[in-house]
Amino acid sequence: MPSQISLNEHLLTKGNLSDDLRHLICDIARAAKYIQFALRTTQAGLSGTRNSFGEEQLKLDVVSDDIIRQHLCQSRLVASFSSEEQKDIIELDAKAPFTVAYDPLDGSSLVETNFAIGSIFGIYEGAQLIGRTPREQVAALYVIYGPRTLLVYSTGNSVHEFLLDDVGEFILIHEFLGIADVAKNYSPGNLRAIHENDGYKKLMETWLDEELTLRYSGCMAADIHHIISKGQGVFSNVGGSSYPEGKLRLAFECGPFAYIVEHAGGAASDGKQPILDKKITNTDQRTPIIIGSKKEVERACKILAS
Ligand code: AHG
Ligand code: MN
Ligand code: MN
Repeated sequence: MPSQISLNEHLLTKGNLSDDLRHLICDIARAAKYIQFALRTTQAGLSGTRNSFGEEQLKLDVVSDDIIRQHLCQSRLVASFSSEEQKDIIELDAKAPFTVAYDPLDGSSLVETNFAIGSIFGIYEGAQLIGRTPREQVAALYVIYGPRTLLVYSTGNSVHEFLLDDVGEFILIHEFLGIADVAKNYSPGNLRAIHENDGYKKLMETWLDEELTLRYSGCMAADIHHIISKGQGVFSNVGGSSYPEGKLRLAFECGPFAYIVEHAGGAASDGKQPILDKKITNTDQRTPIIIGSKKEVERACKILAS
């Protein structure tokens, strides 16, 4: 018997979930292995251009989207899905148990820099996404493609982290991840908003005055994984400049991360209400977000409102 615990084994013994949901998460994890292979083997700089053989290449976010779509279709477990890369919600089989909302490649503009990037997934029961709130998710997970490929999942009570090994198995490396109430790191997105958002300017002055440590990469998945892996920190992306509601989308980015961070003991707010309680009205819907260590999120919301 292998002494290491695989993702499937962990879901079986600790996930407290149905076989259907376990199979769907394993299918998504398999898709992520193909994405990490595509990222590793596609020549750098090939973002929608031609490779050195003159062959046309798709952007890696489109490649990633195709890979995930295929795996969701083949799972036979998906009633409908919605991707950041596709305008319409795709309906597959109304009788299938789940709906999936995903960002196939978050931080895709960073591909050529070789920074860490990620894929993000939120899973709902039923065939509908519109009208639901992220609190209704039955699972959320993300994958980070960095120096190592990591997968973090929650099925509603705790948060666990896996490493993709050389054999191609996701192996448990950290169980029951937690986020402390107080943040020492900050990760401020859409900073240009300070010119028209006085609250955000005040918040930045507070974080600068208190000498929090800056950790911002430009990939939400990697920046929030930093918080989850260090067990503290705060990430923000609020309205202002060209993005009146902030840059990040509720269904594909903020909803899944709010679910995971809250189940690790952190918080996620749009400044007024928990992200988990915001109704999804359309797939392009953006939301301001402050997410991470609970006390810092609460304080940031007060400063933003002042
Ligand atoms: P995507 O690559 O899926 O379009 O998302 C990029 C997002 C998010 O990951 C990140 O936090 C934000 O854009 C960065 O925005 P700025 O470059 O404006 O900081
Ligand atoms: Mn994204
Ligand atoms: Mn994306």
